[in-house]
Amino acid sequence: MKIAMLGSGFIGRFYAGSIQGQRRPDRIISIYSRREESARKFADDYGCEHWTTNMEEAIAHPEVQIVCIALPNNLHEAAVHLCCKHKKAVITTKPLGRNAVEARRMLEAVESAGIFAGYLEDLVYTPKFLRAYESVKNGALGRILWAKSRETHPGPHSDWFWDLEQAGGGCILDLGCHCVEIARSFIGKDIRPLEVMCWADTQVKPIDAEDHAIGLVKYENGAIGQFEVSWTFRGGMDLRDEVMGTEGTIWINNFLRTGFEMFTTGKGEGYTAEKAESNTGWLFPMGDEANDLGYNHMFTEMFNALEKGVEPRETFYDGYVVNAILDAAYRSAKTKLWEPVQLDIWRGRTGVTRDSHLTEYDTEHYLVKEELTHYGARKLILKNKQTGKITEKVSDHA
Ligand SMILES: NC(=O)c1ccc[n+]([C@@H]2O[C@H](COP(=O)([O-])OP(=O)(O)OC[C@H]3O[C@@H](n4cnc5c(N)ncnc54)[C@H](O)[C@@H]3O)[C@@H](O)[C@H]2O)c1
Repeated sequence: MKIAMLGSGFIGRFYAGSIQGQRRPDRIISIYSRREESARKFADDYGCEHWTTNMEEAIAHPEVQIVCIALPNNLHEAAVHLCCKHKKAVITTKPLGRNAVEARRMLEAVESAGIFAGYLEDLVYTPKFLRAYESVKNGALGRILWAKSRETHPGPHSDWFWDLEQAGGGCILDLGCHCVEIARSFIGKDIRPLEVMCWADTQVKPIDAEDHAIGLVKYENGAIGQFEVSWTFRGGMDLRDEVMGTEGTIWINNFLRTGFEMFTTGKGEGYTAEKAESNTGWLFPMGDEANDLGYNHMFTEMFNALEKGVEPRETFYDGYVVNAILDAAYRSAKTKLWEPVQLDIWRGRTGVTRDSHLTEYDTEHYLVKEELTHYGARKLILKNKQTGKITEKVSDHA
């Protein structure tokens, strides 16, 4: 692939490291950055033949096959419209829009232009997520009841994130977009999110947006998604997911304390890991940060999809649904009520009811629970189907 990168900041560089790492044939041939020195420096660092401070010039570059948007949230939409104008395939970082209205306009624009469009939600491409997802899809966890995702860290690294107008929100939008898509993927992207209850507050930072929030997303099949986000968490970046189903459980720790622990007095030590607050004492580095954060699998899947002419697994439609869920979270944080998810475009299933959760014990009873106790008894808790009476049956005494 010949790529134009828009933005030479934090994520643009992470993406470039992933795209051009491990002897990939893909190359960033054009870089757009707001400032000339940043564009030149990025071009030098990654061997780009063309740099510019004019966004449209990078997109329109005749050799560019796909445009990667790595710009502040308020610039995603304008960049997407330019890609439509020049009929260039586009992939954009998260969140798709600052809200669902922007996201919907972007979705409709790429669809009417007929261009390939991918949503760069890296955290559903981490090696651990991909493995967990396979297990969930194979039924190893049974019916998914609850999926929780947490992203908390000490706050973002650039001025614009802290400005409500440019960012479009605080940690709900910045971090909640990851958590919502993770939970949605485990629960089933074809299951309609119905309503959201969210608490949010500005607990520490002198900003207009929220710096801490917890939310619940109710799905049509009865499953619940939960997100926990913070820009005020101390101690690094905490990325953890939990999935609970009728047949099993998965816990994933993607970042902090994942089995690599190191002590140093600080001599000779520089960078530790994203958002790590220290480089002395006991540290928790990552083995291969870009891979562990999902960037490698994400770009492989995006570029393969473009080459094969199929949709990637994360589309602008997914970005739109995520924005719509987060809009409801913002409304709920204000009203303190369950707020409906307003999805003007719904492409999944409708009218999905809960699967039966009853286990037959015999013709007269349902099984509530079976347990082997520490004193060797096998206990069965049963419910009579007719009378509703709960009884227990004890057998196999030690
Ligand atoms: N895991 C992830 O997927 C992930 C992580 C971090 C950031 N992001 C997203 O990436 C995007 C960029 O974030 P970042 O962390 O790279 O930010 P950044 O501030 O580090 O970099 C932003 C880039 O955009 C340029 N820029 C800033 N303001 C501009 C303006 N007004 N006009 C033109 N260019 C401007 C900057 O010069 C820089 O090149 C955001 O949408 C953010 O949410 C995604």
